[in-house]
Amino acid sequence: MTALTLSTSGAAALRADAIVVGVAKGAKGPVVAPGAEAVDKAFDGKLASVLETLGASGAEGEVTKLPAPSGLKSPVVLAVGLGTALDKDDAYSAESLRRAAGAAARALHGFKKAGFALPVEAVEDAAAIAEGALLGAYAFTAYQGGEKDGKGESGSGAKQPLAEIVVLGGKPRDKAFKAAAERALALAEEINRARDLVNTPPNDLYPESFAAVVAAAGKEHGLKVQVLDEKSLSKGGYGGIIGVGQGSEHGPRLVKLAYTHPKAEKTLAFVGKGITYDSGGISLKPAGHNETMKCDMAGAAAVFAAVITAARLGLRVNVTGWLALAENMPSGGAVRPGDVLRMYSGKTVEVLNTDAEGRLVLADALTRASEERPDAIVDVATLTGAMVLALGSRTFGIMGNDESFRTAIHEIAEEAGEQSWPMPLPAELRKGMDSPTADIANMGERMGGGLVAGLFLQEFVGEDIAWAHLDIAGPAFNDGGPFGYTPKGGTGSAVRTLVALAERTAAGDLG
Ligand code: BES
Ligand code: MN
Ligand code: ZN
Repeated sequence: MTALTLSTSGAAALRADAIVVGVAKGAKGPVVAPGAEAVDKAFDGKLASVLETLGASGAEGEVTKLPAPSGLKSPVVLAVGLGTALDKDDAYSAESLRRAAGAAARALHGFKKAGFALPVEAVEDAAAIAEGALLGAYAFTAYQGGEKDGKGESGSGAKQPLAEIVVLGGKPRDKAFKAAAERALALAEEINRARDLVNTPPNDLYPESFAAVVAAAGKEHGLKVQVLDEKSLSKGGYGGIIGVGQGSEHGPRLVKLAYTHPKAEKTLAFVGKGITYDSGGISLKPAGHNETMKCDMAGAAAVFAAVITAARLGLRVNVTGWLALAENMPSGGAVRPGDVLRMYSGKTVEVLNTDAEGRLVLADALTRASEERPDAIVDVATLTGAMVLALGSRTFGIMGNDESFRTAIHEIAEEAGEQSWPMPLPAELRKGMDSPTADIANMGERMGGGLVAGLFLQEFVGEDIAWAHLDIAGPAFNDGGPFGYTPKGGTGSAVRTLVALAERTAAGDLG
């Protein structure tokens, strides 16, 4: 795990393996960003022209490594593009700092200690740099290097991430800076844990083993964890979770993870889709569509990470996480297209497509979460391919039953550095799910499939509870190359938004 410190020492005096500086786009070539004055001085004030000679422009994510001149105590200078135009009125945004710090940290895999000399005007800037650097300093190497010593130094070229991050320009003794650094560390560690869970192959991560991880973490942080296994789920009438899980050798689980604060005035419920592998079931996915379906528990991982982070930060709000865990497999005992399930709410659902399984497990968890009458419910799910078609692979869709809550979440996500967009729940799409046999079918019109799924979920949310649904099918898993602070594979999507929502709720900012 990576350590984080703030330091007032100058970039020249810091003994590290590398110093990171920022480069912005100037009118006539690259410009060295504030924070790197001492480094520039060691280059006789010629760092910008050296970078220009090497072809650097200051573009976002661009990385240039240089041998440090004498005068610096670190051997390497890494210049990272901020993508921003150098303009006095236009301060470097938190997200551009987060991305630059992340890209730099990724480029420093294999290094031990790095100092980040990026522009810090306010505590938010130091927080963004810390967050980006910690999120960039991530690698999933648990399954590599087996032929050697298991330390991830095999022929695959896996390198360990930075062990120590020093944010320069921060004020380590200032209360606000201290708190910001602690927050960044807790948040990034939990996001990285969510990424680990998403990346863990489905032969090792299944409902029972996932529940065990949650139980252990809950114990560590003094949280209440309750696990319903397949027996209790059957007895309790959780037809949706049982139906989806019944085709697998690994039985389903519903996990409740509760953080409470003695002075809390509000309670939030977070509900996560936790399909540890989505084969599609009897409506089997074709090859090409199932290779990355270990990511189908990313919603549950995000909820887990957010509840633990809220606890670590001691937020003055109650946060309950509900993880609906099942493996969607096509055995002889699997649910069939045509089967009717009786859900926890009592409603019946005709399963037309066993690959629309997420809404079935979520429906039961939403009903169960509603029973406790929280002030608001947010569910997080890799729910539909349609949402990826609509918004691409970096933006999640937000639906819900309360426009102002939906808008608030969109704004909170934006501020936290997560791309999202509000989506409607058009009432006319409901009739596509009419079933001749049951109360509702689990599939409707193909067009607007993400919204159809949202409409289905809405029917299982308790009366008068503000509810939002985040469809993270796009951003949860990065099949492309890494960028900014986002690695390949699991990303930890939605954790920052959930944590920020809990913070705002604790502060009484939301009605
Ligand atoms: N887990 C998938 C959705 C998904 C697709 C997640 C791509 C991440 C990337 C979900 O269970 C699913 O299969 N949805 C179907 C629903 C359809 C059968 C109504 C889909 O989107 O095709
Ligand atoms: Mn599916
Ligand atoms: Zn799924």
